[in-house]
Amino acid sequence: MKKQVKKIGVLTSGGDAPGMNASIRAIVRCASYNDIDVVGIKRGYSGLINGEFLKLSRRSVANIIQKGGTFLETSRSSEMFMPEGRKKAIDAMKGEDIDACVVIGGDGSFRAAAAMGEESDISFIGVPGTIDNDVWGTDFTIGFNTAVNTALDAIDRIRDTASAFDRIFFVEVMGRKSGFIALEVGLAGGAEQIIIPEMKIDIEELCQNLKESFKRGKKSSIIVVAEGNQIEDTINIAKYVEMRLKVESRVCTLGHIQRGGSPSSIDRILASNLGIAAVQGLIDGKTGQAVGEINGKIVYTPFKDTWEKKKQIDERYLQYIPILSL
Ligand code: F6P
Repeated sequence: MKKQVKKIGVLTSGGDAPGMNASIRAIVRCASYNDIDVVGIKRGYSGLINGEFLKLSRRSVANIIQKGGTFLETSRSSEMFMPEGRKKAIDAMKGEDIDACVVIGGDGSFRAAAAMGEESDISFIGVPGTIDNDVWGTDFTIGFNTAVNTALDAIDRIRDTASAFDRIFFVEVMGRKSGFIALEVGLAGGAEQIIIPEMKIDIEELCQNLKESFKRGKKSSIIVVAEGNQIEDTINIAKYVEMRLKVESRVCTLGHIQRGGSPSSIDRILASNLGIAAVQGLIDGKTGQAVGEINGKIVYTPFKDTWEKKKQIDERYLQYIPILSL
């Protein structure tokens, strides 16, 4: 059933991701096209609780499509896990006459939105934005493609120095609970091995594989490690492998570099599509759902599924890595 939406609030929450600005732009422009007012909420849920609002017009989002980060800024707010925190947030939105809200973030941000949707008559739609790509209900999240390209660029450079010195490099990429970045970067960067949270790996087997690859004539190696891996701290893994194989090892943690930078065309287009679909969904009377793109089609997924269902990594990639790095 269609809903008469008069004023949409938009916020970014959790880890920023390249493409968030492109998504805010699409939300503001699509709302404006449909004669709906938009209010930007600064600093995610923390700013919402404090009533930090910013009137947005179609001109306020000019020249941001190419910018990384989020011009609305973001935060990780523990207050939103408490009913009192959410009440403050709802009261702030009511005071501003916001009747619908778009939350751009990951599944943690959607949990708070889902709860507020149940505790008020404000409609909520989520737009998946996180470099980790670990949100059910969309093939890709906003920011993932750019983060992969940024990490890949770094790996290509590391390979130059790894081969100059005949060293094993352990490159740690982001992914607190998931190995999507590591897997994609590992395959595209020609890594000899990847270590990800979704897969148990035996460190002795890793040493054995490396030993055999050196016997086959390899002189250097790149191992891509997701930060949330299950074995050990990356530095300890590197030290152990160095001790066992007597081959010099180094660790390079790419860290927050992966979160910054201008979004790729893929992320800008995804962000624009999802931003428009979020506003369209609100006009169509949708609430309590996250918008996503699966096989090129827009889908709406109940918030609960976005954190209860676990997006699976592509198992083929795991099989390809040892074949391609022979
Ligand atoms: O946004 C996701 C993410 O980049 C994870 O990959 C990483 O573990 C985490 O955020 C880092 O968070 P923070 O910037 O708060 O240290």
